[in-house]
Amino acid sequence: MSNKTNQQWGGRFSEPTDAFVARFTASVDFDKRLYKQDIQGSVAHARMLAKVGVLTQAECDDIIRGLGEIRVQIERGEFEWSVALEDVHMNIEAALTQRIGITGKKLHTGRSRNDQVATDIRLYLRDETDLILDEISRLQQGLLDLAEREADTVMPGFTHLQTAQPVTFGHHLMAWFEMLSRDYERFVDCRKRINIMPLGAAALAGTTYPIDRHYTAELLQFSAPAGNSLDAVSDRDFAIEFCAASSLLLMHMTRMSEELVLWASAQFNFVNLPDRFCTGSSIMPQKKNPDVPELVRGKSGRVYGHLFSLLTLMKSQPLAYNKDNQEDKEPLFDTVDTVKGCLRAFADMVPALEAKKEVMREAAIRGFSTATDLADYLVRKGVAFRDAHEIVGLSVAYGIKTGKDLGQMALEELRQFSEVIDADVFDVLTLEGSVSARDHIGGTAPNQVRKAVEVGRQLLSSR
Ligand code: ARG
Repeated sequence: MSNKTNQQWGGRFSEPTDAFVARFTASVDFDKRLYKQDIQGSVAHARMLAKVGVLTQAECDDIIRGLGEIRVQIERGEFEWSVALEDVHMNIEAALTQRIGITGKKLHTGRSRNDQVATDIRLYLRDETDLILDEISRLQQGLLDLAEREADTVMPGFTHLQTAQPVTFGHHLMAWFEMLSRDYERFVDCRKRINIMPLGAAALAGTTYPIDRHYTAELLQFSAPAGNSLDAVSDRDFAIEFCAASSLLLMHMTRMSEELVLWASAQFNFVNLPDRFCTGSSIMPQKKNPDVPELVRGKSGRVYGHLFSLLTLMKSQPLAYNKDNQEDKEPLFDTVDTVKGCLRAFADMVPALEAKKEVMREAAIRGFSTATDLADYLVRKGVAFRDAHEIVGLSVAYGIKTGKDLGQMALEELRQFSEVIDADVFDVLTLEGSVSARDHIGGTAPNQVRKAVEVGRQLLSSR
C-alpha cells in the first residue's frame, strides 16, 4: 500500500506517480471552483441511490450531512485542498470518507468522475448563464431609458465613418438594444442544451445499478437525462456554444466601445463619460481616458481566443472521455468572468452617459447630411432620381466652395441648380424635418424611437 500515491485509484499501480506528473495532471487548483456544483450533484446522486435501494436512508443522510459540513468548511476557507488528490471530485470524496467513514466510499456507486465532471460544468454554466441573462437585461434597461431621453436628439448618422444622414441618438442607442436582444436569445437557446444531465452515464457505458436518472434530473432541475452515455461524458459542445454566444456578445460590445471611445474624444466630443468610469494619465495632466470601453474592446480578444481553444480541444477526440477535456475549464471560467465583468461595467456606465446635444447637432449640420432629403424633395417635384442626385451633388460642391451647408443657402442660391426648388425646401433641409420624415417601423423619427422603446419595455417585462 505504501507505494500508492492516490487512494482512489492506486490499487493497480506498482510505483508512485512522478511528482511532476502528479502536479501536471492535477486540476484541483482551478476546478475547486466547482465545489458547490460538485456537492449539489453528489447530494442528488445519493438521494437517487437511496430511492432505488442502493444506499440505505441512514447512509444517504450521513452523506448529505457530511457534504453539507464540507461545503461550510470550504466556504470558510478552512478546507485543505490536496494536489495529490488531483481534482475537486476526489478531494471532496476523500474528505467525506474521512468525516463519515466507510459510508463515504459508497457515494461513488454507479458514478464516475466522467459523468460527475460533465454534470458539474453544466450546473455551473447554467447558473452563470442565468446571471449573464440578468446582466444583459440590466444593460438593455439602461439603453431604453437613455434612448427615451434622447429620442429627439439629432446626431450625424455615418456610413464609412463619413457623415451620411441625420439620425436621432435614441435611434442609435436602440440599434445597440437590438444587438443585445439577439445576444440574449442566443444565451437562452444555449441554456437549453446546457441543461441536460450526464449523470448515470458513469465512465462511458452506463451502470449496472438500477438507477433512476429521471429522478436525479428532477432533483437537479435538468430538463432531461442525456440520451447516450458515450456522448454525455465526452462532448463539450454546450461549452463551445456558450463561448460562441459570448464572442458574439463581446463583438457587439466592442462596436459600442469603439463608438464611445470615438465620441468621447476631443475630435467628436459627442458624449461625456462620467469621471468614475475613466482614468487619468500619470504624465499628461489634461487626460481623461475612456478606459472602460477600451478595456471591453480589448477583452474581446481573450473571449474569441477561448472559443478557439475549446473548438481545438474538442476537435478529433475519439469517443468517449479523454483527459484533454480537463482543459475545458480555464477557458470557460475566464469567459464567464470576462463576460460578466464587461456587462457589469457597461450596465453601470450606460445610464450615466451624457449626450452633448449641441455638439451632435452641429456635427450633423456640418456634413451635408440632408443631401438625400434634397434629392427626395426633387423627386417629389417630378425630377428623376439620377438627375436629382446630380443636382444635389452640384449643390454640395457649391456648399464646400462657399463654406455653407445646404440649409444655410438662400433660396436663390439653391435655385441655380434646379428651378423646381421652392421655399418649402427648407422644411426638408432642417435636421428635424429630415429625421421626422423617416416615420415608419424601424425608422429614425423620434416618434418611432419612442415606439421602439415601448416595444423594448414590453420585451424586458416578458422575460
Ligand atoms: N479532472 C477531470 C476533468 O476535469 C475529471 C474527470 C477525470 N476522469 C478521469 N477518468 N481521469 O476532466
